[in-house]
Amino acid sequence: MKSKFFHLFTPAASHRALRHLSALTLLLSAAAFAPSLFAQAPTASGPVVLTIKADAAAAKVSPVLYGLMTEEINYSYDGGLYAELINNRTFKDRTNPLHYWKLVQGAGEGNSMSVVTDQPLNNVLTNSLKLVARTASKEKPAGIANDGFWGIPVQPNTPYRASFYARAENGFTGPLTVSLVNTNLLSQAGSIFYWPIAASAEVSGLSGNWKKFEVTLTTGNVPPSKDNEFVISTASPGTIYFNLVSLFPPTYNDRPNGNRKDIMQLLADMHPSFLRFPGGNYLEGNTVATRFNWKETIHDISKRPGHQDDAWGYWSSDGMGLLEFLEWCEDIHMTPVLAVYAGYSMRSGHIATGPDLEPFVKDALDEIEYVTGDAGTTWGAQRAADGHPAPFKLQFVEVGNEDQFDNRNAGNYNGRFAQFYDAIKAKYPQIQVIATTRVTGRTPDVLDNHLYVGAGEAAMQGHFHDYDNSPRTGSKIFEGEWATRGSRASTPNMADALGDAAFLMGLEHNSDLVIMESYAPLFVNVSDVRGGRGGGGSQQWEVDLIGYDALGSYGSPSYYVQKMFSVNHGDEILAATIENVPTAPVRDAAPAGGARRGGGTQGTIFTGVTRDSKTKAIYVKVVNSAAQAQDVHIEIQGASSIAPTGQITVMAAASPEATNSIKEPKNVTPVTTEVTGLGKSFTRSFPPYSVTVLQLQASQ
Ligand code: AHR
Repeated sequence: MKSKFFHLFTPAASHRALRHLSALTLLLSAAAFAPSLFAQAPTASGPVVLTIKADAAAAKVSPVLYGLMTEEINYSYDGGLYAELINNRTFKDRTNPLHYWKLVQGAGEGNSMSVVTDQPLNNVLTNSLKLVARTASKEKPAGIANDGFWGIPVQPNTPYRASFYARAENGFTGPLTVSLVNTNLLSQAGSIFYWPIAASAEVSGLSGNWKKFEVTLTTGNVPPSKDNEFVISTASPGTIYFNLVSLFPPTYNDRPNGNRKDIMQLLADMHPSFLRFPGGNYLEGNTVATRFNWKETIHDISKRPGHQDDAWGYWSSDGMGLLEFLEWCEDIHMTPVLAVYAGYSMRSGHIATGPDLEPFVKDALDEIEYVTGDAGTTWGAQRAADGHPAPFKLQFVEVGNEDQFDNRNAGNYNGRFAQFYDAIKAKYPQIQVIATTRVTGRTPDVLDNHLYVGAGEAAMQGHFHDYDNSPRTGSKIFEGEWATRGSRASTPNMADALGDAAFLMGLEHNSDLVIMESYAPLFVNVSDVRGGRGGGGSQQWEVDLIGYDALGSYGSPSYYVQKMFSVNHGDEILAATIENVPTAPVRDAAPAGGARRGGGTQGTIFTGVTRDSKTKAIYVKVVNSAAQAQDVHIEIQGASSIAPTGQITVMAAASPEATNSIKEPKNVTPVTTEVTGLGKSFTRSFPPYSVTVLQLQASQ
């Protein structure tokens, strides 16, 4: 049966048209949204026909639809995006035994290394590392060595900026040798074993007072490797104290306290419009004391105490502080979505509304002033002193994170939200305030909804229509954390990506209401994927968009879905209908431990159509979840002509399990080519397990 909705183009009617499409697909999708893909060939009652009304914009595509969400989880910043290579640089993370540092023993026994508190660098960096070198020689120096975040990466012909604070006892003045040493290429010269040195430099002039030392270590033509340690050593006896030992490779945009180039490039390639930070559970902490306390993440890094990220079970240096988040936004042209602590921590519950909450409201207002205030304001002046005189634009502030979990008093968020909302709106009426769960008493500008689907891609595809029939009045929606998690792997596979693509298409299709979306989590360090909070590994949460180790990084198939959609969306949703969507029995293939709701059938093709109102480019997105190639006949009405050539970007995989990894980073990636044979009426075959964006050029 063919739809008859093309003549209805008022916004409300357009929604009905879109809903009609949804209802039709829903009908054809039959009942069950069970895990995983389709083993049998899909069946259809006739050819699949997608009819597009090119002169009928049903609604606007939100200009800020595609964005990023981030927090310190899975070693996202320390050991991730934040380019610092020294792990435990201020000796505050697990001191007994001291983690990530070891003694370089030197010429004999009797040398030692210990964390002391009687020689603080200042009032926040209170733990110093004391090296007692009783025996040390040129051949056998004594020193301290750091093995980084699952290795220290070394690239050929590259400058590394090393810095540290040191002071010495009894007139020791140095020199100290600072080096990058390869630990995998143990060499032997005569009876002496030594580690090949990738780069080294000397400093001298130590005294009884703390002094900062800075050197550049430039590698030669060494092979890329992550099997390296950073060593500071002495060839003569002495007692030396160290603090804030730091090592940076070249960073994105050459920021001194900046980010890894490779990961930033992956993000920049996505053209994200916003960054939601700093969490997530990381914002809240388990207790008030372990929340993201922004005032302790500003100033020079020597003034930042760091804190235990007890939400995810490891130490945070806070080198990625409030200003660094903002500069990250600046670097890749994202608008900040600033999440402020809202008086709720996961294990200690909430702070009572009224006077007890007021200091936290004040803190949020100060934070907004730090972001947006000019140098004449208290906190704007602080930002300028921290190195960024120009204020940042701030459109969105989110109050808390997942406050529905405040189950000691479910209604408490109503009061807390109101107190923050009123204070923010009074001072910053232009800021859109986001609530983390439904509230009464105030109408949030935006409501942040989270959706993690462990049951797999078919279950996620069942959410394709989630917003089709939602009211268009009241709060807008931010799908602030979501993911298909069927693979239970570090990063999603193609099956997950097929679930994500269908869901994302549903969001885009409704982006007059769903104005923002961000996949979560964004990052995972895949060096040690034992998993679990506090488990000691590099991964606390499975199924994350981008994976990396110390040396390399990769985008998952779901990363490429985000990228394909984000760079191809135009500004208007076009009315479209589809008929004869083939259905297939859902293969009951949930991974071990995953929820199974097998049986039933479901549609195997999902489509969405948008256009660029200026260029008249039309973007047709198609997901084919089936194991077979499927033809779709495309009819375009309301355009005088469609150019015979266009562009097609296809990401297809040989199997739903196909994926990318640190060893095979480009196994599943989109391919963009020119396509011919287009027109107002044509048929195109979409490969098995594929996500496609077809770009057509209309002239009107
Ligand atoms: O994305 C991982 C976690 O999931 C976030 O920290 C939290 O907001 C959600 O429960």
